[in-house]
Amino acid sequence: MIGGRRRKIPNTFGFEVEADCFLEYGSVEELEGLIAGKEITSPFLHIGQGSNLLFCKDYEGTVLHSCIGGVEVTAEDEEKVAVRVGAGVVWNDFVAYCVERGWYGAENLSLIPGEVGASAVQNIGAYGVEVKDLIASVETINIRGEKRVYQKSECEYAYRKSLFKKPEMKSVFVTYVNFALSKQEYYTLDYGTIRQELEKHPAVDLKTLRRVIIDIRESKLPDPKVLGNAGSFFMNPIVPHAQFEALQRQYPAMPHYELDADRVKISAGWMIDQCGWKGKALGAAAVHDKQALVLVNLGGATGKDVVALSDAVRASVREKFGVEIYPEVNFI
Ligand code: EPU
Repeated sequence: MIGGRRRKIPNTFGFEVEADCFLEYGSVEELEGLIAGKEITSPFLHIGQGSNLLFCKDYEGTVLHSCIGGVEVTAEDEEKVAVRVGAGVVWNDFVAYCVERGWYGAENLSLIPGEVGASAVQNIGAYGVEVKDLIASVETINIRGEKRVYQKSECEYAYRKSLFKKPEMKSVFVTYVNFALSKQEYYTLDYGTIRQELEKHPAVDLKTLRRVIIDIRESKLPDPKVLGNAGSFFMNPIVPHAQFEALQRQYPAMPHYELDADRVKISAGWMIDQCGWKGKALGAAAVHDKQALVLVNLGGATGKDVVALSDAVRASVREKFGVEIYPEVNFI
């Protein structure tokens, strides 16, 4: 357990920010010890790898981080496998582990930054799969030391949303996530250019699909170690069908995804690109030149620089398309 000291807060934007107190725990028992010892003083913030956070200044409080590890098979038959995974396991390591063992389901989520605990909070998603499709239940402990297991149906999962993102759930910490994966071959291939990319390979298998997903991501999304960023900065907006139809009359090429009879998800990246923002900078913060949904730190940017850029981008999209886009990244 690492505790108590003032320390730099890890964050993929590469901002130089510190917490008054940084506590790391490696087991549920250690976390229970911190709770019982009243070491988690308010305000507090639980983070994963800081891959979806935007710090505008130092955090005057306690930052908590789980290092709970372990991947344990809890049930298994010929068709499926149930796996219990520690919240501190690196998400992409878990995907690699699944692919290695021939467990189907997680491969489209290859290379998403962050840890298993945060994946269940954020409902990470990519290439037609969301982590909620794989989750069976989420184990938690709250600031009073009470444990509770939330079944998937209780987690209120929706696009980049969950019960755990609600402000009233701030004092509930994810300790383990239980996944249900398939041992029977199946793939999700309908998103974008995946099928096209797979045609370059002799056969479809888990390892090949993981490779293809990694190649697509690496071609568009900047490596945070090289260029600070938090993945998609904005969510794709969901608009009523009538509004989409009006937009489509004006912009027939607008990429979209019909959610149901009433609602259409439209592409924020495409709209930002159409506004001419791709590759443009405002001070040391910029819109990524290969994927306009991503804002990057060119070096030495602060959270405030990125917020200023975000505000300018949102204003452009509002003006040109009459659509409000909202950050996916959490502002701290
Ligand atoms: N597009 C442009 N210009 C751009 C960016 C996108 O024209 O600068 C167009 C693309 O050509 C495509 C459409 O917009 O027709 C959608 O683009 P893309 O497939 O890159 O996906 P996205 O909607 O921009 C979402 C997720 C990503 C995820 C990809 C693939 C959100 C907020 N983002 O991006 O997730 O990897 O789909 O599934 O839903 C993340 O959340 O951090 C993330 C990277």
